[in-house]
Amino acid sequence: MTAQELRDSYINFFKQHGHSEIVSASLIPENDPTVLFTTAGMHPLVPYLLGETHPAGRRLVDCQKCLRTGDIDEVGDANHLTFFQMLGNWSLGDYFKRESITMSHAYLTEALGIPQDRISVTVFAGDESAPRDEESADIWKSLGYPAERIHYYGKNENWWGPAGVTGPCGPDTEIFYDTGKPACGEHCDPSCGCGKHVEIWNNVFMQYFKDAEGSFTPLKQKNVDTGLGLERVLCIMNGQPSVYGTEQFAPIIAAIERLTGTKYEAQTQRAYRVAADHLRSSVFILGDDKAVSPSNVDQGYILRRLIRRAYRYLSQMHAPAGAMAQIAEVIIAHYGADYPELERNRAFVLAQLRHEEEAFGKALEQGLRMANKYIDRAQSGRLAAEEAFRLYDTYGFPLELTVELANERGFSVDAEGFEKLFAAHQEKSRAGAAQKFKGGLADHSDATAKLHTATHLLNAALRKVLGDGVFQRGSNITPERLRFDFSFDRKMTPEEIAEVQRLVNVSIAAAAAIHCDEMTVEEAKESGAIGVFTDKYGERVKVYTMGGFSKEICGGPHAANTAELGSFKIQKEEASSAGVRRIKAVITG
Ligand code: SER
Repeated sequence: MTAQELRDSYINFFKQHGHSEIVSASLIPENDPTVLFTTAGMHPLVPYLLGETHPAGRRLVDCQKCLRTGDIDEVGDANHLTFFQMLGNWSLGDYFKRESITMSHAYLTEALGIPQDRISVTVFAGDESAPRDEESADIWKSLGYPAERIHYYGKNENWWGPAGVTGPCGPDTEIFYDTGKPACGEHCDPSCGCGKHVEIWNNVFMQYFKDAEGSFTPLKQKNVDTGLGLERVLCIMNGQPSVYGTEQFAPIIAAIERLTGTKYEAQTQRAYRVAADHLRSSVFILGDDKAVSPSNVDQGYILRRLIRRAYRYLSQMHAPAGAMAQIAEVIIAHYGADYPELERNRAFVLAQLRHEEEAFGKALEQGLRMANKYIDRAQSGRLAAEEAFRLYDTYGFPLELTVELANERGFSVDAEGFEKLFAAHQEKSRAGAAQKFKGGLADHSDATAKLHTATHLLNAALRKVLGDGVFQRGSNITPERLRFDFSFDRKMTPEEIAEVQRLVNVSIAAAAAIHCDEMTVEEAKESGAIGVFTDKYGERVKVYTMGGFSKEICGGPHAANTAELGSFKIQKEEASSAGVRRIKAVITG
């Protein structure tokens, strides 16, 4: 079975059960200050889980691009990945436990033909915030699952979300596939982590909101949020022991073999896997329509870590100059049909990889010498935080690289101390990436909704003053301020800044009511709306109109009237990355 066949079978199954297909959202979250990347299919759907209406309806299905770097150190084993594709289906206040579990069961056993006796499930054991989920257990039983394959666990195992500090969450029921490996002992079960049972699907019953005080209150509606790991299921369907053995990776592995003249075998396996995974992730980040460039902050820093780590493993295998870009070509060719943005952004992806290779290539050799010197003289088998930080600061060594070098020689690194120095350093420029990556979803308060409205007005004003060549490249909103990135290749003059600010304030003073209309992408285009147009024909979107000033495709939520914004002030205009400027602004409303 190919990835394409698996994706099609999933999407079609849920379409037959009344779901509308939506396209994968960007890997870079919109308007969300607290997560750097989309880590699950539910992220772009948070407003709808909280009660906004979705233009495609109350039953949705998709295949979402996701990136998680929490387990980056595990990459290299059989199944850990940073970038992955999550198949998901949602009920936005529509069906609940019975339909969700019944559909999952039918999809796995009937559509995919997985023998039912290879499947175990887990359900929430109950605590002070929610009752024991006997309802889900009973549904599983009614479908023929014996009690010994239904396991009850607590919050650690059977509760999902919020993705950050606050947001929608709820108990879940997880579905595990028995790989057929021998049990690790008498108590071998889905929670033991020995690898016999692999988690393939998570059905979350999102019915609570966790607030900043840690209390759980019922949401307006009961939702279902599920996620099925495409790469993992592909592995199972093809009887592969590792995701790297599937067609998702075969061409990448072959390209590394060709370029390095080495073989993918036990000895080189880890290096191959890290390089293949990290480059695949990097291509998807760089190839996103909201592409970021390697840098020392936020998404750019994660990207830089991925690229540099891949580069280091490739250079250990004596890959020639330009190897990363050549492997990227293979990745784009393999994934481009399903993700046309990769083709669209091909030139950018290749140029950025070449540039980063050049920048880091020079520093690597010198840095390696320095690292070895530090390790030689390290006391007590541990490299000091200051030295790890110097390697980062002077030679661009990501922490993982220093840790690996030290570990290879039987040393450890004061990683905690490094994180502190790193955070202090980041604080000087911006809040720390590592911290933020652990953070939560944006709140959806009135303050952020108003700032979100302000970004639409700002976007329109920028295009008026600087021309139609200006496009939004990113947006990040906290309750205190907005930050807006846009394509423009020089510093704005003070007059231009003043004029943009004035235009936004004129739109606010006009006290225009804000309307939201649902239409197809084609209709939105015709109506003159701006925004990211998806590639899917006929997809329904929301278009927000703010008086005669702004018409933009967007998920919301927004203020009801521009007057709510009070007044608008630009605090800063600065460079963000090559060809991209950044504005920080506040409102008083
Ligand atoms: N949000 C849940 C997860 O990421 C289900 O999609 O596992």
